[in-house]
Amino acid sequence: MIREKIEWMAEQFAILFGKNKSLHYFFAPGRVNLIGEHTDYNGGNVFPFTLNLGIYAAVSKCSDRLIRCYSSNFSNLGIIQFSLDDLMFYAKHHWANYPKGVFKILKQHGYILQHGLDIFFSGNIPNGAGLSSSASIEVLTAIIIKHYGNYTNLDNISIALYCQQSENQFIGVNCGIMDQFAIAMGQENHAILLDCNTLNYQYTPLNFSDFSIVIANTNKKRALADSKYNERKQECDNVLLLLQKQLKIKSLCDLIIEEFLEYKDLIKTSIEFRRAFHAISENQRTIDAVKALQNNDFIVFGQLMTQSHISLRDNYEVTGFELDSLVDAAWSHNGCYGSRMTGAGFGGCTINLVQFSQVRDFIDSVGVKYLKKTGIEAEFYIVKAGHGARLLS
Ligand code: GLA
Repeated sequence: MIREKIEWMAEQFAILFGKNKSLHYFFAPGRVNLIGEHTDYNGGNVFPFTLNLGIYAAVSKCSDRLIRCYSSNFSNLGIIQFSLDDLMFYAKHHWANYPKGVFKILKQHGYILQHGLDIFFSGNIPNGAGLSSSASIEVLTAIIIKHYGNYTNLDNISIALYCQQSENQFIGVNCGIMDQFAIAMGQENHAILLDCNTLNYQYTPLNFSDFSIVIANTNKKRALADSKYNERKQECDNVLLLLQKQLKIKSLCDLIIEEFLEYKDLIKTSIEFRRAFHAISENQRTIDAVKALQNNDFIVFGQLMTQSHISLRDNYEVTGFELDSLVDAAWSHNGCYGSRMTGAGFGGCTINLVQFSQVRDFIDSVGVKYLKKTGIEAEFYIVKAGHGARLLS
């Protein structure tokens, strides 16, 4: 599979950038979050794993100072070119602003390339589906820079932090660390329990025994997601400031639910109360879900997924008609033990815990129900945890 992909990329690379170049190949996966949504920028826990879907890159060194990049996912935009000496955000550079931001931030931290690169990107993560294609291309770019700059001291956690910085400062989305961390640090057949306050992490083996993890794509593009995302973060930051008047806390998830409720009168609006309540209760659900998984208690694990969705729907208000319809359809299926939206929300994907023997029926019947209700065809992927970002050869 990977070999075929590499052969195909080599052919495409030669057509676009010329033959007889010495190529290296890299891969960075997408990620899915099992539970712990909108907790990362509130200093809470998350529980993602890296997918076996992702973005590949074929790269060769050039003697000039230009980065020429092409993505087979945006073939209509052709080769996009920028100089290592002009790393400004240009809207016309479209998707290439994601790698460009990483070149810029790494340069600021002293990781500088002395030469240009030709890069052919090709991904199989559906764009805008909330499976983190943007963090994937960011981390991929960072490992390319690490390789060509021979920066062996640049570790994966620093890579994740620099890529997050690029997303925050260059792209303008105030995301937390979950996506970049998961993609840089992912391990085959494991999820990562990450405490986003301390960056302490623990790999948990993913042993779903008689269950499969099925991702369902609403095929509703995440319109306005970035601005709404920043709005949610701002709302949580506002609550934190109010609580800090009386409490010595660094982030909302320093509190457990009971403590938070004691101080709830400090919060002025019911919207802000609900936002913070989501973050703090979701953090608890995440810790409980990891324990349930370790005990092979899939009933509890699935119930926590379902409660997570309800809170994201009613308290955090980041779901919407399509995500709710898809989750409703999943909940009504006998073989489904838990279903929730995953990622930032406002469209994108759901994640479902489905009995292995029922997966076919689940996909058929949920697909039909969703189509009837929304007029949109959902897509389904049965996924496994793959390895994090890496040099392939
Ligand atoms: C996006 C962000 C993450 C995280 C999730 C919500 O994926 O990039 O940092 O906040 O949304 O859990």
